[in-house]
Amino acid sequence: MCGIIGYIGKKPAFPALLSGLKRMEYRGYDSYGFCVLNNEKEPFFHKKVGKISEAEPELLNLEVKGNIGQAHTRWATTGAVTDQNAHPHWDCKKNIFLIHNGIIENHKDLREKLIKEGHEFSSETDTEVLSHLVEKYLDGNLEEALQKTLREVRGTYGIVLLAKDDPQKIVTARLSSPVILGIGQDEFLVASDPSAIITHTRQVINLDDNEIAVLKPDNFFILKEKPTVSIEWTPEEADKKDYPHFMLKEIMEEPETIENAIRGRLMPEEGTVKLGGLDKVAERLKDINKLILVACGTANYASRVGKYMLEEYAGIPTSVDIGSEFRYRKPIIDENTAAIFVSQSGETADTLAGLKEMKKKNVLTIGITNVVGSTQSRETETGVYTRSGPEIAVASTKAFLGQLSTLAMFAVYFGRQRNMSLVMGKRVVSELSKLPELAKSILNLAPDIKKLAEKYKEFENFWFIGRKYNFPIALEGALKLKEISYLHAEGVAGGELKHGPLALIQDNFPTIAICTSDSVYEKMVSNIEEVKARGGPVMAIATEGDERIKELVDDVIYIPKTLEMLTPILSVIPLHLFAYYMADLLGRNVDKPRNLAKSVTVE
Ligand code: M6R
Repeated sequence: MCGIIGYIGKKPAFPALLSGLKRMEYRGYDSYGFCVLNNEKEPFFHKKVGKISEAEPELLNLEVKGNIGQAHTRWATTGAVTDQNAHPHWDCKKNIFLIHNGIIENHKDLREKLIKEGHEFSSETDTEVLSHLVEKYLDGNLEEALQKTLREVRGTYGIVLLAKDDPQKIVTARLSSPVILGIGQDEFLVASDPSAIITHTRQVINLDDNEIAVLKPDNFFILKEKPTVSIEWTPEEADKKDYPHFMLKEIMEEPETIENAIRGRLMPEEGTVKLGGLDKVAERLKDINKLILVACGTANYASRVGKYMLEEYAGIPTSVDIGSEFRYRKPIIDENTAAIFVSQSGETADTLAGLKEMKKKNVLTIGITNVVGSTQSRETETGVYTRSGPEIAVASTKAFLGQLSTLAMFAVYFGRQRNMSLVMGKRVVSELSKLPELAKSILNLAPDIKKLAEKYKEFENFWFIGRKYNFPIALEGALKLKEISYLHAEGVAGGELKHGPLALIQDNFPTIAICTSDSVYEKMVSNIEEVKARGGPVMAIATEGDERIKELVDDVIYIPKTLEMLTPILSVIPLHLFAYYMADLLGRNVDKPRNLAKSVTVE
């Protein structure tokens, strides 16, 4: 949840830390903190509640000397949002400075023990026990002290550690929280997120669980040799350009995201797709007769669409689990089960916990991941990247399109291995190839959708309804609206209205109905009629050419026709735009909604 960065090199550390922190602010942002070591005098440290972007002008005026430092942006878990609880945390002698992303589960017991031993704490955080444990074990060698510390803790961590008495060194460690080492020109960096270091270097090493690394001004070492890999994003891609918000930029990139996901993977003649990651295990996949999809939030809704696709086109029984629930249930699995993990970041703790469980049980694990080199992409047996590029806004938009496009290709792949005909394979592949252009045409509706947002921003409660493939899109539309506009929105299957939700319908409770021309069109029309009969305003997402719907609803947004299984890839685009404009018109912090963080790396 929190962002961590460390710098050691020939340049001043502070500007590198400040810009890295700013680039990571989307991960967690209730407070921030720095420590920079300086050979000549006392270290510089500064920690405060607030947003780094707002404090930047003041921070830029500070004269901070030193070439070694650390910085942290916090998303509070243990301990209130206060200056004291911001990182770094130090020991009794203010010699150790430590920043941490993760959770120390046994911090209470450790704290009690350390207090009995005479340690004095200055924060309420779980992290502070780490600084005092390092102090306790420090006997000339910082990395050994950290090693001993980590033997005592239970939980997850990405750590960057400095010591005033040993100012030529950064020590870092990880367990279930991302840590990458950036190998630059005369400098080394460590961070939880590639975006923090991308302006310095694109050569990185992903630290693995239980590894400790030591960075010095001119060399570094890890407990074992590891290859460097390249970050595929450019700094420009992670930039807002001329857009007022990352979210709008990312929605505008949705057609390109579909294009990137399918590029080079469609085989029109053979009516199938080529997915390198799946080809590796093609023979094993032929025997799979049960799929379990595990994901959280928006990725979970993509997986729910995937279930409809995989069952209809590949004929494989498929279940979908929320990561945080999956880890506590007892799924029925056997040697013919495969588990697919869907995640933009590849660092979502709840999803990764499910992955660990499935690996223990020898289930074939497959990742659908956006971030290259992320924990999920490394821990799954095989996988497919969605190639959506960096997604910075907390609300996931373009990554959802990447996930849906990839899942549609999975349905073709599995389908063609089984009973899907060549004709049907060719049809789906051909329709998939048309999606980027169709998606572009929907973006042209942005000004109309903004006008609708002007009209609907007066309301405080919304239903989103859809059926079959568009039921998960109703859930996604509602999630997007509530998370960034703070309005109350619920997604429900159209058929469920009469089982309870209808009680809430009145003229101040609008319904957004996804009513595309498909196999459940007539059913959706009935559901809309139920709402209208009770005086509820309705805005519909419908298919171009549907004149009948106009008579029924108050407002319509038309999207182009495609195959029913692919409609969600188009119908969600106006809903992303609608949520964006509503939140912006209401003056919300669109890219960084309150209480949320981009990567949820804690349980
Ligand atoms: O990185 P992931 O795709 O695993 O993230 C999963 C959810 O945390 C994420 O989709 C979240 O629900 C978004 N804020 C939704 O916009």
